[in-house]
Amino acid sequence: MRLSQFQKAAVALSTLFVLFADVANSTDLLKQSCINEACSAVRLTIHNPPVNLFDINLITSLDTYLNSLKNQTQTKVVVVSSDVPGFFGAHLDLNLLSNVTRPGINASQYVDTYSSNIDLLLDLPVIFIGEINGRTWGAGNENAVRYDMRFAGPDAIFGAPEAAGGLLHYGETRQLVQLIGPGLATEFLLGATEITQRKPRGSDGSTQHTPRRKSYESTSRTLRSALREHMSR
Ligand SMILES: *[C@@H]1O[C@H](CO)[C@@H](O)[C@H](O)[C@H]1NC(C)=O
Ligand SMILES: *[C@@H]1O[C@H](CO)[C@@H](O)[C@H](O)[C@H]1NC(C)=O
Ligand SMILES: *[C@@H]1O[C@H](CO)[C@@H](O)[C@H](O)[C@H]1NC(C)=O
Repeated sequence: MRLSQFQKAAVALSTLFVLFADVANSTDLLKQSCINEACSAVRLTIHNPPVNLFDINLITSLDTYLNSLKNQTQTKVVVVSSDVPGFFGAHLDLNLLSNVTRPGINASQYVDTYSSNIDLLLDLPVIFIGEINGRTWGAGNENAVRYDMRFAGPDAIFGAPEAAGGLLHYGETRQLVQLIGPGLATEFLLGATEITQRKPRGSDGSTQHTPRRKSYESTSRTLRSALREHMSR
């Protein structure tokens, strides 16, 4: 799926409006259902339209859910998916990184909760499996690389464009390097490269990803010339 300029503007606008949304009843954002009879395998569907933004509501819901997995033995596998068309998970609500949040909201508290959530993905004795179709950007990506397994559908797009803009891609780098190797991880982060489905292994055993450079062409170009300039000093 390629977003048109209009859709991009709509996404940016809706992101802005999230700042003014109330801290809603967050239990609706995660739908749970049993996959097997014993309910040891659970499907967790993220539903935070329009883009599955990692905002206060989603962070709080995930915090409650992940902490509920701590002292229990029933749930052994969690399959994470999304029912928001075109998106598995978008970025962190950037308002949380700014000092201009709503009065009464302690943004840094939610950033702390966000990081403890993604730490729980590694620490909990539960297998997390991402069933990914749609954009998996920024925070969405940080979550996905911390699952134990990921399966990508035809419309899965992985990206970390914020890294090229100077924002930290929090907690992901080590996992990314383990998953795709240092060269591709560097290209992914520095080049703001979007990666779609993996092509079959070549006869030399190498894997090839299909970078979707076009939508980030100008970012990449700016970044490439900045890097060239930096290296020629
Ligand atoms: C979880 O279990 C451990 C020991 O089994 C206990 O020390 C701890 O207090 C429990 N935590 C909660 C939140 O119930
Ligand atoms: C937010 O930070 C900026 C830059 O550090 C500062 O100029 C501004 O006064 C701050 N605003 C508030 C509401 O603290
Ligand atoms: C905001 O939360 C952080 C913890 O994340 C805490 O250290 C800080 O004291 C809190 N600030 C206020 C004003 O409550």
